[in-house]
Amino acid sequence: MTGNSDTSPVVLAHLSDVHLPPPAPLPSWRAFTNKRALSVASWKRHRVHRHRPELATIVREDIVAAAPDLVLNTGDLTNFGLPEECAAAADWLASMPARTLVVPGNHDAMVRSNWPDHAGLWSKWMEDTDETSFPYCHIHGNVAVIGLNSAIPTPPFMACGRIGKTQREKLAQLLDETKILCRVVMIHHPPRAGLVPWRKSLLDHKAVATVIAQHGASIVLHGHSHDATLATVPGSEIPLVGVPSASLLSSRPWRQSGWNRIAITPTQEGWTIDLQTRQFTSDVGWRCSRHRRWQQHSELRGQIMKANEPR
Ligand SMILES: [Fe+2]
Repeated sequence: MTGNSDTSPVVLAHLSDVHLPPPAPLPSWRAFTNKRALSVASWKRHRVHRHRPELATIVREDIVAAAPDLVLNTGDLTNFGLPEECAAAADWLASMPARTLVVPGNHDAMVRSNWPDHAGLWSKWMEDTDETSFPYCHIHGNVAVIGLNSAIPTPPFMACGRIGKTQREKLAQLLDETKILCRVVMIHHPPRAGLVPWRKSLLDHKAVATVIAQHGASIVLHGHSHDATLATVPGSEIPLVGVPSASLLSSRPWRQSGWNRIAITPTQEGWTIDLQTRQFTSDVGWRCSRHRRWQQHSELRGQIMKANEPR
């Protein structure tokens, strides 16, 4: 736990789906023999023109200027999950201006692969978690960040995710253990139907949502949709927050590259959570496309404040 005073805001920078370009020119898609072949062909046709590294750099510079306490990256740093891409993504994570946490996305686990030289290269930004021990928990002041891994290899044309029973059970335990804190859950695939097409959905979204609703959380951050949506975790009023891709060139305003600034301030009753979404286009520059604020009541909060009062 860090030394934040009890009333200091904790500022989070939430970004996702940066889809960094491969570090070297890729061979023809014919050089790949599995699902990656289709993905490489699609990338060369379309995605290389849509996900722009210069936009990712502009987003990173804006995050640097905001001086967050934590940077939370909800996955899909790569396009094909190749070892060279994962190594380049590690450099990207190291370039962030604050303690950074990451969870993998479906592109980062496109095919079954050896964890240590793929997403395992990001273990220092995942609390040294290996692929069998998610979710992890990082505590910063009054904030607990819990990172889930929804990335699974899938057949061609599918981009589903799954959390599974083991992670759900550990999630429930971690949410209980951290209930005196402001609990922030990170997951690549949104735990709610309808935010992405079925072929891209979280297969056990109902079970994951039930765990979060029953055990409680302050906010759930996801990627994958490339969209600044604001929903709730089913069965609860817990905000479920999407974010645009950090690198997407798009004519549709809600999909243009950006990130979420989230400030969490303790109050006597619980927390104030302030959410701003910042989006960039070369013609307009930066704009704040969404600004919401919640007061969250925590029955435990009064007990903590009393316990911390000077005698
Ligand atoms: Fe994704």
